[in-house]
Amino acid sequence: MAKLIIIAAIGKNKELGKNNELIWHLKEDLTFFKEHTLNHPIVMGYNTFLSLPKLLPKRKHLVLTHQNIENPDIKVFHDFNHLVKYLQEVDEDVYIIGGATIYKLFLPLANELLLTEINAECPSADVYFPNFNENDYERITLKEINEEISYKHVLLRRKK
Ligand SMILES: NC(=O)c1ccc[n+]([C@@H]2O[C@H](COP(=O)([O-])OP(=O)(O)OC[C@H]3O[C@@H](n4cnc5c(N)ncnc54)[C@H](OP(=O)(O)O)[C@@H]3O)[C@@H](O)[C@H]2O)c1
Repeated sequence: MAKLIIIAAIGKNKELGKNNELIWHLKEDLTFFKEHTLNHPIVMGYNTFLSLPKLLPKRKHLVLTHQNIENPDIKVFHDFNHLVKYLQEVDEDVYIIGGATIYKLFLPLANELLLTEINAECPSADVYFPNFNENDYERITLKEINEEISYKHVLLRRKK
């Protein structure tokens, strides 16, 4: 089974997005995302797929959707269980890149949560990271950053 790693950038209230876009565009966080996901399969829902300006280079795109996507570079799954079965045969780290519905589906299965915790709020956000019990995870702070907004990268590793 692949090691499943959820990667997300969340506000103080677990805000994720608004109008099918990201809320905050933080330069170093985009680099962080790229460094981690590069050369790994990435799993996303259809809305997140639509929100991408283009396919992300050097990453196999696995999209969960009821739609058909005519692109040979994308592997489409119409059923969550089929996707999980596929991931069971994958022997590498797979990144779950969102959005909210996909995080919720994968939260019980994910080994690690790689979160960018942003020290900001967005009352008009319309999607949120699902609730979870922090006590189920060991928390490791990886890096603290101060750009125009302060934020930190943390790794939450599921306790055995
Ligand atoms: N802050 C972050 O780190 C981050 C990361 C990613 C995304 N986002 C934000 O999150 C928002 C998008 O999140 P979202 O929750 O609206 O959408 P999403 O999770 O990206 O995609 C949801 C869609 O995926 C498909 N889907 C979900 N479960 C399925 C299933 N079991 N079987 C088949 N298809 C399924 C459905 O599409 P169809 O039925 O239409 O096929 C569903 O409408 C955007 O604002 C985006 O910018 C933020």
